[in-house]
Amino acid sequence: MKEWLEGKTIVLCVCGGIAAYKSVEVLRLLQKQGATVRVIMTQGVQEFVGPLTFQALSGQPVFTSLFEKNDSSTMRHIDWAREADAVIVAPATANIIGKLANGIADDAMSTFMMAVRSPVLLCPSMNTHMYENRAVQRNIDILEADGCYIVEPGTGELACGDRGAGRFPDPWIIVDRLLAFLTPKDFTGKKILVTAGPTQEPIDPVRFISNPSSGKMGFSVARMAEYRGADVTLISGPVSLPDPLNVACLRTRTTLEMEKAVFDHVKDVDVVIKSAAVSDYRVEKPSAHKIKKDKDNMILTLVKNTDILKELGKIKKKQILVGFAAETEDLVKNAEKKIREKNLDMIVANIVGQKTSGFGIDTNIVRFLYQDGTNEELPSMLKEEVAMMLLDRIKHLMAR
Ligand code: CTP
Repeated sequence: MKEWLEGKTIVLCVCGGIAAYKSVEVLRLLQKQGATVRVIMTQGVQEFVGPLTFQALSGQPVFTSLFEKNDSSTMRHIDWAREADAVIVAPATANIIGKLANGIADDAMSTFMMAVRSPVLLCPSMNTHMYENRAVQRNIDILEADGCYIVEPGTGELACGDRGAGRFPDPWIIVDRLLAFLTPKDFTGKKILVTAGPTQEPIDPVRFISNPSSGKMGFSVARMAEYRGADVTLISGPVSLPDPLNVACLRTRTTLEMEKAVFDHVKDVDVVIKSAAVSDYRVEKPSAHKIKKDKDNMILTLVKNTDILKELGKIKKKQILVGFAAETEDLVKNAEKKIREKNLDMIVANIVGQKTSGFGIDTNIVRFLYQDGTNEELPSMLKEEVAMMLLDRIKHLMAR
């Protein structure tokens, strides 16, 4: 399985104050994605975090001064700029933002930045009054217009005691935005609706009928579609995953709620990807109070839920409709039947209950089946990779 940043060199520029220790986590997450990370630090930040921390973790010398003694490379600022696949400035202070916006190169970091030609991601992080300062905002606008990607700072209590915008974002957000920034935008202008996770059908206020779907597959599809520039709406059942960034997320519980949300949002959508594991039945009359165990036997009457996908298939015109089929046997036969009966363009079928495939895990072994009777079997892949491949196939279907 390929890591996202395998073979890539990312230069992490660390300036700022107290929040700089959080950049250590950014470095670690970048390495987890396979990147080689090189660190440049300003003089000021070294009062808060020592270069040795970054040096030990990155396995690379840390660049702190243009005139370092014992430095074999006299052109390090040029070499590193040439070799960088992307640059992250985190935290980015008012000072470095001001310098970059105005072409000032007076230390190792700003001189290096002047030579950079690869994508630059900036994470402004400072006191909220400094962040709101008109000169800082003006400089951020200039850098955005110059093609830098600006990661919005978090809002909340700041180290100085003030409250407001200016917090260093969660490290995973910085890495997620870098991956999105580096992904070619081949779905710009396309609207995609994704459903994910299980549904819950209440029996009484404390019990329900559901399934073990974690939502990972659908959330991966939504994230990857957003990376590729699509306008994404994600309708999910109850799961413990965070909302993907820059995606309109709606949380639902029952199939009835999911059905309403889907039909409220399906208008003008180019692609519907229904990865949710929907309950086929609901309890006819859920009890208003907790059911007591005073009887030896109990019969629950279930009524059928609407097959949301089948209803979409009946009204679809140019829309691409993709279903999922989790099966325990006769995978191809069952999945082909669902394509026909629900009028789908393709279905993603998988056998559930295996160690490397199915509910709750990060990998999946799936087979793509198409309306024309063809199908392709894929090896075990990360759900994000399956999502990317699915989007490739959808793009192909849309081009027809
Ligand atoms: N689906 C749906 N509404 C339902 C049931 C299923 O929209 N009430 C969608 C799922 O989101 C999935 C596809 O239909 O994309 C196939 O779901 P699956 O549960 O595998 O199949 P079913 O049609 O429910 O058939 P069966 O349970 O008999 O296998």
